[in-house]
Amino acid sequence: MKVKKIFAKQIAAETAGLLTEDKVLERIEFPKYTEQGDLAFPCFELAKVYKKNPASIAKELAAKITDPYFSEVVSEGPYVNCFLNKKRVSKEIITDIQTKQEAYGSLNIGKGEKVTIDFSSPNIAKPFSMGHLRSTVIGNAYANILEKCGYQPVRINHLGDWGTQFGKLISAYHRWGNEQEVRQDPIKELLKLYVRFHEEAEKDSKLEEEARLWFLKLEQGDERALELWQWFREVSLEEFKGIYKLLNVSFDSYNGEAFYNDKMEETIDLLKEKGLLSTPKGAEVVTLEEHDLPPCLIRKSDGATLYATRDLTAAIYRQKTYQFAKSVYVVGHEQSLHFKQVFLVLEKLGFEWANNLQHLPFGFILQNGKKMSTRKGKVVLLENVLKEAIKMAEKSIEEKNPTLQNKAQVAQDVGIGAIIFQDLKTDPQHSVEFSLEDMLRFEGATGPYVQYTHARACSILQKSNGSAEEPTDGLSDVYSWSVVKKLMDFPTKVKESYEQAKPSEIAVYLLSLCREFNKYYANCKILQEDDQQASRLALVECTAIVIKEGLRLLGIKAPHEM
Ligand code: ARG
Repeated sequence: MKVKKIFAKQIAAETAGLLTEDKVLERIEFPKYTEQGDLAFPCFELAKVYKKNPASIAKELAAKITDPYFSEVVSEGPYVNCFLNKKRVSKEIITDIQTKQEAYGSLNIGKGEKVTIDFSSPNIAKPFSMGHLRSTVIGNAYANILEKCGYQPVRINHLGDWGTQFGKLISAYHRWGNEQEVRQDPIKELLKLYVRFHEEAEKDSKLEEEARLWFLKLEQGDERALELWQWFREVSLEEFKGIYKLLNVSFDSYNGEAFYNDKMEETIDLLKEKGLLSTPKGAEVVTLEEHDLPPCLIRKSDGATLYATRDLTAAIYRQKTYQFAKSVYVVGHEQSLHFKQVFLVLEKLGFEWANNLQHLPFGFILQNGKKMSTRKGKVVLLENVLKEAIKMAEKSIEEKNPTLQNKAQVAQDVGIGAIIFQDLKTDPQHSVEFSLEDMLRFEGATGPYVQYTHARACSILQKSNGSAEEPTDGLSDVYSWSVVKKLMDFPTKVKESYEQAKPSEIAVYLLSLCREFNKYYANCKILQEDDQQASRLALVECTAIVIKEGLRLLGIKAPHEM
């Protein structure tokens, strides 16, 4: 924020080198109450050094600081409080947003470097779980945020398309499978087979052995095994793609676990070469005792590779292919140990880039306080959940705005937006509560509320016949000032959401921007024809631009009308 910098620079200059501009910047606060000003600098630290009381230092400093951007600088107790020149600052912010449009808030932290982002990554032949939904939504938003910060994100769907479960599935299909049924409802039928396998395996110990052999055959390239695997993969992926289409998410790569099948030998050789492999009971592992962690399993005694083997290989492949500056994995909490192990093994292999790997964990989706599961008997099929949200949105649009054109599209944008927003407004680390009714409300902290505020801004602009295009000379009333301050904050929020890897920073920000905008709307006669009208409309236009761009970062559409 430019004005914050100016304030910091002047204070730093007055401290005769004691505090750098950056230090001062870190300490500047935003007073809670507007009566206390727009920026505040606490003098406690200086007081200690100068051995004076903080209030008198604040007083001395306040007297020295002036700038055309500041209307007043005063001391209040130990603080130097700065009031910004509302007209001047608002004019500048409005002009800046109008010039840059959706590029407002874009940063060049990444300088075009690549960041691979591994997200969604569901498992073939299994339902798309609530966890995968979270990964998809968080990962997609974070990729957008990375892009906004000047990185080039590479979106990777590391499909769970390999592993011993395919041995089980092939074995089950041979025993009880029916082609027709699988074609009709692939994931449901495949899951049934998988569940049945486990039930029967409890009674018949031969089954596990049979499955193990099938997987081995698969790894050795057996044609019959491969053919079935290929088919399971195709039909599952088709179902997943239906979900991605609804969510409006796309990937640069669908290279899943199977892709690394012919590349793992090289990884294992490398581990051997570096003397990192040990072989307790015939299995090959990398011990991590020195980190107080269980060993990382590389290969079972029967020669089968593991999840970790594939992740190690994938990381090496990604570095070679993309030369990433960073590599991010958006995967639930429960896999934290796995990623710790994988990252440590890569470090032991001597790869410097191992420091640039980052696991972004997230919590569960809860329903009535309990973990919402798509497993076993109580399968909640995600696609049905999404469609239900769209249906509910359609209903409320039907009530509120029956003459709306392209209702179906708007209902989809609102229904899907509600689900995404509900997830992203929470710190990814926390669990989120899933209630379609709550998340589809048009008031409160919901996606539809933000979308609705955007639509409201669009409708004001529509009514005004484009008078926002006239140059503004700024606004100085309290309501518009609150909106301007929020708008001024957007670039900082983008930066913070990137640094903390929290799309929630953007979501929470949008809620507060909408709240301020709606107060402005309620208290100012925006369309009143006076000499401020153009400026007021310009502020509306800027708000619409920032809400739309913020929603875009989250992966949510902003309809003009709803
Ligand atoms: N397929 C895994 C699962 O559903 C997630 C994969 C995450 N990505 C990775 N590179 N391990 O649990």
